[in-house]
Amino acid sequence: MKTNVLVLGNGGREHAICTALTRSKQLGTLWTLGTAVNPGIESLGAKIGLTDSLEDFEKLGRILEIGKIDLVIPGPEAPLAAGVTDFCWRNGVACFGPTKEGAQLESSKSWTRDLLQKHGVGDACPDYLISTKRDDPTRKKFFEKWDGQIVVKADGLLGGKGVIVAGDHFKTLEEAEDFAKQSVEQFGRVVLEEKLIGVEFSLISLVDGKTVLDCRACQDHKRVFENDTGPQTGGMGVISDERGKLPFLTEEDLERAHDINVRSMKAVEAETGQKFLGVLYGGFIATKSGVQLIEYNVRFGDPEGLNILATLESDLVEVCRLACEGNLDKVGMLQFAPVATVQKYLCAPGYPEDPQKGGMIKLPEVLNDDTVQTFFAGIKKESGTFKISGGRSIGVVGLGKNLDEANANCEKQIARLEGEFHYRPDIGTNKLTQSRVEMMKKVRG
Ligand code: AMP
Ligand code: GLY
Repeated sequence: MKTNVLVLGNGGREHAICTALTRSKQLGTLWTLGTAVNPGIESLGAKIGLTDSLEDFEKLGRILEIGKIDLVIPGPEAPLAAGVTDFCWRNGVACFGPTKEGAQLESSKSWTRDLLQKHGVGDACPDYLISTKRDDPTRKKFFEKWDGQIVVKADGLLGGKGVIVAGDHFKTLEEAEDFAKQSVEQFGRVVLEEKLIGVEFSLISLVDGKTVLDCRACQDHKRVFENDTGPQTGGMGVISDERGKLPFLTEEDLERAHDINVRSMKAVEAETGQKFLGVLYGGFIATKSGVQLIEYNVRFGDPEGLNILATLESDLVEVCRLACEGNLDKVGMLQFAPVATVQKYLCAPGYPEDPQKGGMIKLPEVLNDDTVQTFFAGIKKESGTFKISGGRSIGVVGLGKNLDEANANCEKQIARLEGEFHYRPDIGTNKLTQSRVEMMKKVRG
């Protein structure tokens, strides 16, 4: 039997999800619902619905009916936080995502820390303080306890702008307090955390409340400029080696990250009474004292999802369908091509602060081969011409027998794409990867 699938969203991640879905023999009709037409998704032959907001479910309800949708896969976090999973199941349609309550794992940092503490996952958390008052002297005490080496987190979704880190974004108590007060005003709460020192990575697992299947481990590069300088972005590029691991991590690190995902999934059910279904994206940091959890997201990372989905050999329709039935264990393990991946986003001039839209893009006639996959994000097609329509425009995933070859293939493709872009040439280079290995050696002591 074929499965009609609706993907929510229209960015690079969703283009990667749709591409993986079209490799499935079980796919019936592919639908998407987004705020603009993604020409990459369009070229896959998907039926495209448009909406002003993915948090407004009226249009969604109509498409579920018209498209006789069997399965919904949400791309971004906003519809999940707004309860899209609950809405779909109420309407008799399976949705591969957590409930609104479960989605708080991403939408509320305070909920997550308290949840983990309460249900036996406190060992994965740094020291933290939740403050609910505009003027709260305990924040000053916490700042002093850690000698100013803290992180301040707004308690809601702010699209990557909700966290400030000592040394990077602020130095003084006053600056930390300004941000904390704003968060209390906007969200009723703020979270202060001890600043963890180490190397970050992402371990994304697909889960059904019972079974936890890991995707390839990835490392994102969030700063806009080379050598991790400049402002924070949504993510400029991601690497993952030919083992589906990272050169600076040990087996133990990955086992612990997996175990934290397993225990966190169970913690959500213990707290809410609802199974956690969908994507569990752990943002981890390998520190001197082992792997700790920085944050959870409840969707594929963007860009991590590009590396993962470009190399996923398991049938994505089947995996999501089985997960929705609570039978993810039948998948066994997720299968990935045994290649390294280096992904880089080509971004609009001025991204992230002031992305300039409208620039022309010229693409080669044959875009992909077995060394590269190219995903469209902020790009639109106007009378046959491609133009930049957003910050991160094109995601290029180079594949290779090791990171060097994957990086060379990524760069070769970037040279074939014409347009005024900026990106990070250093991602995937031996030099940057080695600097992480050295950093990790130093951290472990
Ligand atoms: P977000 O905007 O939530 O993706 O968070 C952002 C970034 O803040 C992470 O990728 C880390 O680099 C940093 N961060 C968050 N929490 C901590 C922490 N407790 N210690 C050190 N860095 C952190
Ligand atoms: N890779 C960053 C994110 O998806 O949030």
